[in-house]
Amino acid sequence: MKYKAYKDRLTTIADIGYSIGLLSWDQETYMPEKGAGFRAQQMATLSGLVHEHFTDKDFGKILKKLNENPKKLNEKQKRNVAQTLKDYKKQKKYSREFVELLSKTTSECFQSWQKARKENNFKLYAPHLTKMIELKRKEADILGYKKHPYDALIDQYEPGARVADLDVLFKDVREQLVVFVKKIAAAKQNEDKFMYLHYPKDKQWDFGIDLLKQMHFDFEAGRQDISAHPFTTSFNPKDVRVTTRISEDNLKSMIWSCIHEGGHGLYEQGLPESEYGLPSGEAISLGIHESQSRLWENMVGRGLPYWKANMKTLQKYFPANLNNISAEQFYKAANIVAPSFIRTEADELTYHFHILIRYEIEKALMEGKLEVKNLPEYWNARYKEYLGIKVPNNTQGVLQDIHWSHGSIGYFPTYSLGSFYAAQFYATAKKEIKSLENKIENGNLLPLLEWLREKIHHHGKYYSAEELCKKVTGEKLNFSYFMDYAKGKYSALYNIK
Ligand code: CO
Repeated sequence: MKYKAYKDRLTTIADIGYSIGLLSWDQETYMPEKGAGFRAQQMATLSGLVHEHFTDKDFGKILKKLNENPKKLNEKQKRNVAQTLKDYKKQKKYSREFVELLSKTTSECFQSWQKARKENNFKLYAPHLTKMIELKRKEADILGYKKHPYDALIDQYEPGARVADLDVLFKDVREQLVVFVKKIAAAKQNEDKFMYLHYPKDKQWDFGIDLLKQMHFDFEAGRQDISAHPFTTSFNPKDVRVTTRISEDNLKSMIWSCIHEGGHGLYEQGLPESEYGLPSGEAISLGIHESQSRLWENMVGRGLPYWKANMKTLQKYFPANLNNISAEQFYKAANIVAPSFIRTEADELTYHFHILIRYEIEKALMEGKLEVKNLPEYWNARYKEYLGIKVPNNTQGVLQDIHWSHGSIGYFPTYSLGSFYAAQFYATAKKEIKSLENKIENGNLLPLLEWLREKIHHHGKYYSAEELCKKVTGEKLNFSYFMDYAKGKYSALYNIK
C-alpha cells in the first residue's frame, strides 16, 4: 500500500514536471516573443508545485518507512525507493533563502552574460559570475562532499562521478589525444568545400527526416521541429520531441545535429513506459544520455558504412552539389579535424580539449585557486597550449557558453564522458552484433537499436552509470576505447603511420 502511495506521488510530480517540459519546448520552438513574461511566471509556479510535492513531510515519512522495511518490495522497487530517498534528502538540505538567492543571482548573471557577450565586455559579467561561484561553493558545502567541493556539483549531473576519476580521464586526454591531434595537424589535409555550397532548407529538412526514420525514431511517438539550438525533450516515452537547425550554406550543421538529437530521442523512446515518473523510468545521467547521442552521431553517423548506405539518397536531394562526390569523399569531409575557438562547432577529437579547459577552470574556481577576474587570461593561455590557437576576443572565448551564467558548474565533463562511454559501448556492440557494420552499410540500423534498447534504454535508472558500464562492457569506463577508436579511424583518414 505504501509503495502505491509513493508511486502515486511520483506520478503527480511527473505530470507537473513534464507539463513544465512542454511549456519549455514550446518556448524554444513556437511561442511568440511577447509570451515570454507570463510563460516564465507559469513555469516558476509549476516548479514551485513540484518542489512542494517532493519535499512534503508526509512523503518523507512514506519514503523512510519503505526504505526501513523493504521486505514486501522487489529489487526494482527497493532501488526506486532508495534513489528517491537520496534525492529527497538532497532537496531538503536547501533552505528557502538559498533557493531564492540562487534563482535571483542566476537571472542577473544570465542577463549580464548576454550583454557582455554581445558587447565583448567581460567586465560586465565578472562581478555576477564571482557571486555565482561563491554561491556554488556554498552549495557544495550544503550538499556535502568527501574529497573535493567540485564532487558535490558534478554529482548533480553525473551521479557518482568524482574529481579523482575525472582527473585520470582528462590526464589521458591531455597526454594522448593532444599528441595524436598534433600528428593529424601535420598530415595532408582533406577537402570539405562542397559541404558549404547552397543547400535549400526544405530539402535538408526532408533528408533529416529520412535519416531519423532510418534510425527507427518513432514518429507516432515523437516529432521534429526547428529551434535556434538543437535539443531533445520528452514528456513520456510516447511523446519525445527533437529539434534541429538548418543552415543553407552548411550541410554539416543539420545532418549531425539531427542524428545526435535522434540518438537522445531513441533513448527517451526506449525508456520503460510502465515506470513513468519513477527512477526506473528515467535516464541514468547526462553522460549516459550523451553516450547515446554521440554513438549515433559519431560512431555510426560519421562512419563510412553509414555513408555507403546514404550517399545515393543524399545525391538525389542535391544532384548538382554532390553527384561527383563519392561516399569515401563524403566520409573524409565529415571527419575534418582542425582546432577551432567554438566548442559547439568542434570536431569529435578537438572537442575534448574544449571540455578539458572548462574542467580545469571549474576545478580551479571551486578550489579558489583561480579568480573570476583572471578568467580570460587563463582561458586564452589554455587555448594556446592545447589547441595552438590565439583566441581573438572574449566573445569567441570565455564568453561563448551559456552554462556558467546559469550556474551549471560540473555539467561540461558529462559531454566528454558521453563520447568515452559511446566508444566503449560501440566496441562491445561490434563484438556482440554479428557483422554490425555490414548491416549499417545496408541501411539496416535496427539490430543496433535493439541492442541498445536491451542493454541500456530498457533499464532506466535501475543501474548507476558505473554499474551499467560494467554490466554492458565488462569493465568500468576506460579511456583507451575512445583512443583506440580515434587512432583506428583517423590514422586511416589522414595516412598516419
Ligand atoms: Co547532446
